[in-house]
Amino acid sequence: MTDEQKTAPSADFVVVANRLPVDLERTSDGGRRWTASPGGLVSALEPFLRSRKGAWVGWPGVPDVDVEEFDDDGLVLHPVTLTSAEVRDYYEGFSNATLWPLYHDVVAPPVFDRAWWDSYVKVNRRFAEASAEVAAQGATVWIQDYQLQLVPTMLRELRPDLRIGFFLHIPFPPVELFMQLPWRAEIVRGLIGADLIGFHRPGGAQNFLWLARQLVGLEPTRGAVGVRSRPGMVQVGDRTVRVGAFPISIDAAGLDNLARSKGVVERAKQIRRDLGNPKAVLLGVDRLDYTKGIDLRLQALHELLHEERLQPEDVAFIQLATPSRERVEHYQRMRGEIEQMVGRINGEFARVGHPVVHYLHQSVNRTELAAFFSAADAMVVTPLRDGMNLVCKEYVACRHDLGGALVLSEFAGAAAELTSAFLVNPHDLDGVKNALVAAITLDPAEGRRRMRAMRRQVLTHDVDRWARSFLQALGAEPVD
Ligand code: ADP
Ligand code: G6P
Repeated sequence: MTDEQKTAPSADFVVVANRLPVDLERTSDGGRRWTASPGGLVSALEPFLRSRKGAWVGWPGVPDVDVEEFDDDGLVLHPVTLTSAEVRDYYEGFSNATLWPLYHDVVAPPVFDRAWWDSYVKVNRRFAEASAEVAAQGATVWIQDYQLQLVPTMLRELRPDLRIGFFLHIPFPPVELFMQLPWRAEIVRGLIGADLIGFHRPGGAQNFLWLARQLVGLEPTRGAVGVRSRPGMVQVGDRTVRVGAFPISIDAAGLDNLARSKGVVERAKQIRRDLGNPKAVLLGVDRLDYTKGIDLRLQALHELLHEERLQPEDVAFIQLATPSRERVEHYQRMRGEIEQMVGRINGEFARVGHPVVHYLHQSVNRTELAAFFSAADAMVVTPLRDGMNLVCKEYVACRHDLGGALVLSEFAGAAAELTSAFLVNPHDLDGVKNALVAAITLDPAEGRRRMRAMRRQVLTHDVDRWARSFLQALGAEPVD
């Protein structure tokens, strides 16, 4: 990448997200380097935006650092600076200790702190100003996710000429939960500045429409919202705001190709050999987040080993967990609990040189990840709530051999699309245990049938289709 190379001041297509697609890291010798940012938002949007050569406005991932706008392989990156106090109050506080748990079914209690809210307003304004600076006359600006819900209206006030879209990558909560938020009307008013507001599921769109009526006194349409069709509409002055459902996806063809490469096929075999060629390899891949149900799947494994429904010499459970939001209390607690469970399972059931759980608290690169997916007999995805969950789609995209099985929580957005998975209620531990056993003892013909159906869905509904359907509904792209 060319670092800090000044580029043209305006762009016709701008993505605005809390994070840039790359994170600035300080190296031990005092230097710095850029690495890929974590999470599904970046995984999904980066390949799409690179093919369009737009601009991306976002935070470089470290506090108190001023970085000039620069060109990264044709993509203009426009960094927004956050101070340490803003990282604490806007990012770790309001975004990740208030909104994140509130929008994920309050699986942890949200904290309502007025100073955090003030910081959220201030930082959202900075993002709006940065976007106004970057966008050309009449440009399309696509604002992403829960950290920036006030930006649509703030940006519209600064730049009424722009076409503004907003997409929420996490679930939009039931109205009863949203109503707990002391700043609920402000959030709805912040979003309504967009021309199109997108959610993963029609239920989220419908909840939002109800709130627009109750909290802001608008008169939205009442018909059922469809998937990529029949958006709800709200008249705001002379503007018609559309509210729709657009389930996000992955670069399915790219991963399919990668998984077919010789390097990945060989590496997958090597992983199985390194594990001692057990009968069944189970895999979990997540950011280390308390919504992902990593603890539940470990508990299910522990019970199955105790009950001797699984033999320790027959199974290897790999859990890859990307470090995430490590200064937020709930994340610290969850990490401690998970690591204690890993220790307990291995303490009771491992033999020298043969742990049952292989736990890596680290990120791996795309090629290595594709090899893990290819090596796993069962992929275990058990969130208590997840907007979509891309990991399960990535697993399916990698299984061109039609091998493997997917255990998937009903509470992930992806469950509506991957109906041939072993769908589980993650709160029902016996159900999770039964699904794990069923997945690894699956009749191969039945396994192929299920995987074929899931691949058909994922390969025909990729991230490009997601982005195109959103941008077409926004009027920023011609309809096919
Ligand atoms: P979220 O956005 O909540 O993190 P998703 O499942 O939608 O959840 O997206 C997670 C993304 O991060 C996926 O693209 C996945 O491949 C990637 N990822 C998760 N864990 C790891 C890991 N340990 N190493 C590398 N990539 C990971
Ligand atoms: C999820 C969120 C993204 C976020 C990502 C990583 O995918 O929807 O907005 O960027 O997690 O989390 P982080 O807090 O590290 O940016």
